[in-house]
Amino acid sequence: MRKVHVPLGGRSYSIFIGEGLLARLGVECAKLKLGRRCAVITDRNVGPRYAKAALGSLTAAGFEPVLITVPAGETAKSLKTVQSCYDQLAAHRIERHSFIVALGGGVVGDLAGFVAATYLRGLPFVQVPTTLLAQVDSSVGGKVGVNLKAGKNLVGAFHQPRLVLCDLATLRTLSAREFRAGLAEVIKYGIIYDAALFERLENRLEKLGELEPKLLGAVVARCCEIKADVVGQDETETGLRAILNFGHTIGHAIENSIGYGRYLHGEAISIGQVAAAEISGELLGLCSGCVERIRDLFRRAGLPVTIRLTPSQRAKLMAAMKLDKKVSGGEVRFVLAEEIGSVVWGRKVPQATIEQVLAAMRE
Ligand SMILES: NC(=O)c1ccc[n+]([C@@H]2O[C@H](COP(=O)([O-])OP(=O)(O)OC[C@H]3O[C@@H](n4cnc5c(N)ncnc54)[C@H](O)[C@@H]3O)[C@@H](O)[C@H]2O)c1
Ligand SMILES: [Zn+2]
Repeated sequence: MRKVHVPLGGRSYSIFIGEGLLARLGVECAKLKLGRRCAVITDRNVGPRYAKAALGSLTAAGFEPVLITVPAGETAKSLKTVQSCYDQLAAHRIERHSFIVALGGGVVGDLAGFVAATYLRGLPFVQVPTTLLAQVDSSVGGKVGVNLKAGKNLVGAFHQPRLVLCDLATLRTLSAREFRAGLAEVIKYGIIYDAALFERLENRLEKLGELEPKLLGAVVARCCEIKADVVGQDETETGLRAILNFGHTIGHAIENSIGYGRYLHGEAISIGQVAAAEISGELLGLCSGCVERIRDLFRRAGLPVTIRLTPSQRAKLMAAMKLDKKVSGGEVRFVLAEEIGSVVWGRKVPQATIEQVLAAMRE
């Protein structure tokens, strides 16, 4: 088992990474000195697979867990589902000393975290992420929230978990497509922070795809370490934390304009990161060999690296980018790479450069 510390003063916590950790959920929660009653929030795909093990482990450690199951998928990240969770928590008499366990992917983590942040003005919560994306990204850092019709993650809070438990064995039941989508965030960490990680991914991508346990554990732990390091320095995104958005300005605009049905988040940010690398080449002199290495790694990971837009889609995408939260004072800001392993943030990019790069990304 690997352990990563997230240094946030009184709100510090540990991330545990290993095979079969779900069985340790109860024991690890017991160390946190939380109340006996707790609610495990999961979704309809994850629940049938892993809820029994989670509830069993909690019960064996002396807790009294109840199970709340929400629909699977992005649409569950809504105020309607939040309301339904509140009603069930009330019916189960979850009280101020109780805690919430988020068992699932990023959707469940963001939703259950938001419920925990707000029910009874805040309950402790524990993350048990079961997708690669959630293990390396969404379960760490305390951003929780839900979507509105007007856009993603528009209602939310910062609420740090008390513990994150990444059971690598749960990734075996994840679809290949969802696993690949998670790889887009993994590759991102290499680009923004760690050239050695990027190289390791270049050398061992196939083994990682086979979920080779030692490699998978090392890679997930390294990504968590990087996220912990960044969040530890800038918890509420006043500066540095923005680097985690590499590829996300265009990625989010793709999701918002072309629709969430077509691309998974990881797929949209794969295109977004390749575009950001191209823009970095134009504006920061990122070497063309580096741009190629970046494109090549995403392609080898089975992620999209091209996009063909109709004129109306391109107009929608540009409009969506301007509505993104990362726009300040009307200017679209980008995270750009100086080299693999090192980025800068808050860079203005002329609209013409974005359009030119996107136009060149047709297959
Ligand atoms: N809070 C943050 O900092 C942060 C960061 C990145 C992304 N996010 C959010 O995360 C969400 C995406 O998360 P995601 O990609 O994990 O999607 P997800 O939670 O929808 O999970 C993807 C699919 O896999 C299923 N699933 C989950 N674990 C499984 C398993 N072990 N076996 C089989 N099926 C499983 C789910 O039911 C779902 O159908 C988005 O809403 C995004 O906004 C949040
Ligand atoms: Zn992301």
